[in-house]
Amino acid sequence: MTTTPPLLDIRNLSVSFDTYQGQARVLDKASLSVRHGEIMGLVGETSCGKSVLSRSILRIIPSPPGRIDGGEIFFEGQDLLKLPRTAMRKLRGERISMIFQEPMSSLNPVFSVGNQMREVVRSHRPVSRGEANAICLEMLSSVRLPDPESVLAAYPHELSGGMRQRVMIAMALTCRPALLLADEPTTALDVTVQGQILAILAELAASQGLSILFVTHDMGVVAQLCHRVAVMYAGQVVEVADVESLFARPAHPYTQGLIASIPGRTTGGELYAIPGSVPSCLAPPPGCRFHTRCTHAGPDCSRAVPEMVRVASDHSVACHLCPTGGAL
Ligand SMILES: Nc1ncnc2c1ncn2[C@@H]1O[C@H](COP(=O)(O)OP(=O)(O)OP(=O)(O)O)[C@@H](O)[C@H]1O
Ligand code: SF4
Ligand SMILES: [Mg+2]
Repeated sequence: MTTTPPLLDIRNLSVSFDTYQGQARVLDKASLSVRHGEIMGLVGETSCGKSVLSRSILRIIPSPPGRIDGGEIFFEGQDLLKLPRTAMRKLRGERISMIFQEPMSSLNPVFSVGNQMREVVRSHRPVSRGEANAICLEMLSSVRLPDPESVLAAYPHELSGGMRQRVMIAMALTCRPALLLADEPTTALDVTVQGQILAILAELAASQGLSILFVTHDMGVVAQLCHRVAVMYAGQVVEVADVESLFARPAHPYTQGLIASIPGRTTGGELYAIPGSVPSCLAPPPGCRFHTRCTHAGPDCSRAVPEMVRVASDHSVACHLCPTGGAL
């Protein structure tokens, strides 16, 4: 049986930042993949490296102080870390697009939405102004913005936060990319608008075969939207599973803690919180980076880094407690 290779395959990606306190290894041999047409969640507490990982894919880590130390990022069969700058520039927006938490940081307040959207279209495709306009209207309709004509004529500040995020999604999709990197795109929105944006993303993935890497710290959003999930802790990917297995049988103690912390998961009493705090990337704990907070930690945990092992067909974990189904 032949298996289709994933659209995106990140292998052992390591990234460091030079800081006044020393070198911080913020990603340490992180690996994950995104398959064709799937929504892959990337979760973990603040500062665990989610944004650095997603920006590394587009090679937009500020450098200096950032540096990719090693690893591979295969996309459509080629290692992005080896692509010449010009090829990488062409790929951004065309094959891989990104949306961020705050759309205003990507929209220019002094130009109308139409002006900015047409610019994006025409920077990638040899089309007339009228054709670019038609593409923009089609994209705005695809994110269910009512009255796309008025949205094109509007300036960003004239739109609500939810409308601006839809404009960003429409802009990101104008060239019909294969992969959308979505870094906390709904965190700043109220729950109702968040639900609408998630529904649009799910529909786009299903109808256009779009793959999405959805970065969030919200396990509820993961459960609602994603097909598979990668859990990060202190710069490492510690568990990857299909969403049903992750919630039904979380294998890593950190994932178990994240799930137990979801409001409504524990019956009565106080909301569960994982004890302690995320360690500094300047001097991460040896062995398993989670051992300083793990209630199951044994003597091996501070000595040896746990290997990622397969515990079920679509479920891998890096924890000494997990029975080895075979190293990956
Ligand atoms: N430009 C930078 N210079 C120095 N350190 C940085 C820089 N950007 C990120 N880092 C560090 O890299 C680590 C990972 O940051 P990252 O932004 O990827 O976290 P995150 O998981 O996205 O967190 P959040 O949920 O808060 O968005 C953090 O320790 C952060 O301080
Ligand atoms: S390896 Fe040890 S410290 Fe790390 S999560 Fe597993 S039991 Fe806990
Ligand atoms: Mg982030």
